[in-house]
Amino acid sequence: MVSQSLLEKFDNLCSKYPVKRSALVPILLTTQEEVGYLTPDSVHFISDYLKIPEVQVYEVITFYSMLRTRPVGKYHIQVCTNISCLLLGGEEIFEHISRRLAIKEGETTPDNLFSLAEVECLGACCNAPAMQINYKYHENLSVKKVNEILDQLKREG
Ligand code: FES
Repeated sequence: MVSQSLLEKFDNLCSKYPVKRSALVPILLTTQEEVGYLTPDSVHFISDYLKIPEVQVYEVITFYSMLRTRPVGKYHIQVCTNISCLLLGGEEIFEHISRRLAIKEGETTPDNLFSLAEVECLGACCNAPAMQINYKYHENLSVKKVNEILDQLKREG
């Protein structure tokens, strides 16, 4: 079950599309923003609401790395290690963050501040290596730049 305000957002999103099911991705993103991640209950509700099989909702969720079925920290760090980033140090960036935060792929720091994920191309290849923290992109990364970003986020808490 979802909240009444979330249901109103669903109705509003659906009104923007000729076919209700086309609102699936925005509905998933909106739910994730409100709930934190896509719980089995919310997926079930969305499936009923859009009248599409639950497995199709999961197919979309598992296709997009921005959609999550488990909770993450306040700052969800997604480091690209696809080809352009790989050639320009993306793996080293990922390993550095993993060492510095003492977490591995898919893990969250004990204070729930940072989660780390290795992802496919973020579409920022021309400024590789790149990572995304929540909805913000960070490009042309170096270890020094990553440290500055993490220091800043840690200060902001
Ligand atoms: S390969 Fe990393 S952003 Fe495209």
